[in-house]
Amino acid sequence: MGYKVVVAGATGNVGREMLNILAEREFPVDEIAVLASRKSLGTEVSFGDKTLKTKDLATFDFTGWDIALFAVGSGPTKEFAPKAAAAGCIVIDNSSLYRYDHDVPLIVPEVNADAIHGYAKRNIIANPNCSTAQMVVALKPLHDRARIKRVVVATYQSVSGAGKEGMDELWDQTKAVYNPVQDVPPRKFTKQIAFNVIPHIDVFLDSGETKEEWKMVAETKKILDPKIKVTATCVRVPVFVGHSEAINIEFEEPLDWQEAQDILREAPGIMLIDKRENGGYITPIECVGDYATYVSRVRQDSTVENGLSLWCVSDNLRKGAALNAVQIAEVLGQRVLKKG
Ligand SMILES: NC(=O)c1ccc[n+]([C@@H]2O[C@H](COP(=O)([O-])OP(=O)(O)OC[C@H]3O[C@@H](n4cnc5c(N)ncnc54)[C@H](OP(=O)(O)O)[C@@H]3O)[C@@H](O)[C@H]2O)c1
Repeated sequence: MGYKVVVAGATGNVGREMLNILAEREFPVDEIAVLASRKSLGTEVSFGDKTLKTKDLATFDFTGWDIALFAVGSGPTKEFAPKAAAAGCIVIDNSSLYRYDHDVPLIVPEVNADAIHGYAKRNIIANPNCSTAQMVVALKPLHDRARIKRVVVATYQSVSGAGKEGMDELWDQTKAVYNPVQDVPPRKFTKQIAFNVIPHIDVFLDSGETKEEWKMVAETKKILDPKIKVTATCVRVPVFVGHSEAINIEFEEPLDWQEAQDILREAPGIMLIDKRENGGYITPIECVGDYATYVSRVRQDSTVENGLSLWCVSDNLRKGAALNAVQIAEVLGQRVLKKG
């Protein structure tokens, strides 16, 4: 016996990956419904070897459905997730809407799967920001060994993190560079993204940091440890899929780079590719379609006591969103619903 599963946002970047991953990992699905906005009614999407037609989220009745994976953005989530939850369907949400609510668990299964039981207060579980998800997977085993005091991270985030429109904008602007007759002004991004980088993701806060940077701080504290200090600079780069991060870590206890490599090699969700030679590291184009959070370039930082630096790359549509949501559904199935 399996589950009745809903994917809301099934025509989007994350929703399509959710369907791929549910099929790839053979999640025990008895019945599946795919939802999007009214304008996409009847649009065909793939689930394994099946083709499904999307229904309208606005009129869908969630009664009798077990799990709903939401990837529709905060606005529609605010309207429809509470309806699903009230109908008894457990929502796993990819938007930032509920991530910071004290009565909604924010989960990365390799790090804090035990928090799953907190779902019952609202029938909602939140999925973290893509940049946070891969970072905490890399930090967790090192934190367990040497207690992290402070993290300084710079991100190199792909345009797929801004949805379908972000990918289209990079594609259209790149073509326009070679065909200057067409002008493709910035729409989704604030400046030209083709052949450029933009140190601005999400809105500015009074502190001068962006909301994306603030999310990495707040979410790392909620998922991993509230005592860890984090400072982030989040940058959009002209890469279609795959987020990269340069992470500098200061520990309470000494940890040499060889031991850190050994720990990371054995840690769940991580693939260590770290040869100190040409090409002995992972770049975003190599992580696309994979489940792993890749770690490379592990090295001592001798400018602080107990410092390490590393490079971390992952498929933002997978570990940063769809895979993590499906992993949460798996934990929910194994530990709570126990049907599969
Ligand atoms: N991309 C990432 O790396 C990433 C990572 C973590 C979290 N997230 C979050 O995941 C969510 C989806 O992101 P995405 O990248 O998949 O965006 P996307 O490619 O733009 O897709 C958005 C999806 O939401 C649907 N949608 C939008 N408004 C709707 C409405 N009023 N009613 C019903 N459906 C509606 C769209 O349906 P139509 O096609 O009908 O418009 C589409 O299926 C966002 O909350 C995002 O912040 C994304």
